[in-house]
Amino acid sequence: MKTDKINWAIIGPGKIAKKFTTSLKEVEGAQLFAVASRSLERAKTFAQETGAKKAFGSYEEMLQDEEIDVVYVATPHVFHYEHTLLCLNAGKAVLCEKPFAMNKKQVEEMISVAREKGVFLMEAMWTPFLPHIEHLVEVLQSGKYGRIKELSADFGFNAPYDENGRLFRKSLGGGSLLDIGIYPVFLALHTLGIPEKIEAKAQLGKTGIDEVCDVTFSYSSGATAELHSNIIKNTPTTAEFELEKATIAIHAKWHNPSTIVITTPEGTEIKSFDVASFGYEYEARHVQEMLRQGKTESDVMTFEKSLELISLLDQIRKEIKLDY
Ligand SMILES: NC(=O)c1ccc[n+]([C@@H]2O[C@H](COP(=O)([O-])OP(=O)(O)OC[C@H]3O[C@@H](n4cnc5c(N)ncnc54)[C@H](OP(=O)(O)O)[C@@H]3O)[C@@H](O)[C@H]2O)c1
Repeated sequence: MKTDKINWAIIGPGKIAKKFTTSLKEVEGAQLFAVASRSLERAKTFAQETGAKKAFGSYEEMLQDEEIDVVYVATPHVFHYEHTLLCLNAGKAVLCEKPFAMNKKQVEEMISVAREKGVFLMEAMWTPFLPHIEHLVEVLQSGKYGRIKELSADFGFNAPYDENGRLFRKSLGGGSLLDIGIYPVFLALHTLGIPEKIEAKAQLGKTGIDEVCDVTFSYSSGATAELHSNIIKNTPTTAEFELEKATIAIHAKWHNPSTIVITTPEGTEIKSFDVASFGYEYEARHVQEMLRQGKTESDVMTFEKSLELISLLDQIRKEIKLDY
């Protein structure tokens, strides 16, 4: 078992990678060790800004460094499969950004290679590690308020239009569903499980990607989930569960550390959750725990959960006729 510092490395020093390094500072036993970019100049600048010890101008070159314990893959979605395989084949543990890959077939192969190599792999779906979501799940599972009748959750923001940018360009996996719609879909999966029926409609933009996506899940229990995402308009970005005996609301922005409000005929209970830095520190701490225990799979964001999530995304994309 590794007891000294865990050496983290980053592939793809973009926006989220920067935020992740801030969160990593809150994680005991974590060291930001290396960063790799397609450009040595960008890697050096990122290392200077974040305190990473080493900078590499090639992803492959960095992976030869024997001191690296785990690689955080933070490139655009379409490269998650390729870059994760690159790391696994070099024997490095991986935390790969969401969506894990572009489709179920790719995720299956990533998992199969991780198993074959005996190397840790996890999708960076940080939601289940957040204290307010852990609290929500505890409350739901307690059964105190009865079963869930309806969930409604949205995630929408007015992204500056750039047909070459990651969010709008189809060849970079653009669109609302895979970028942010994945969060409401995950919340439904995490709290209600796999739906019996999936309905979806989308507004496809000029670049052929879903600028808006509306999804309805129906469950055998009678519950429904109304899930919305869009990248052309700001929406409340809240989540609300209607249960038999209460309403549970997660305030904006519900996918970030937030406030949970439980309303019953007897009154209102408010619980706020503050975190030190963005909230990525929880998933990073979990990865370290798994590595120290010698695990090759997370016991929270399991392979099964990632496969279920990507299957739902595949099925929604089939409904809205969006093929990458
Ligand atoms: N967990 C979260 O809260 C969260 C939030 C935002 C995004 N994400 C996920 O993180 C991933 C990256 O998002 P981001 O917003 O950080 O993207 P970004 O700012 O565009 O950064 C992506 C990085 O990937 C590298 N890259 C490699 N090949 C590329 C290519 N052909 N085109 C563009 N970039 C390429 C680039 O670094 P070099 O060229 O320097 O190597 C770039 O800096 C996405 O999959 C997204 O879903 C997660």
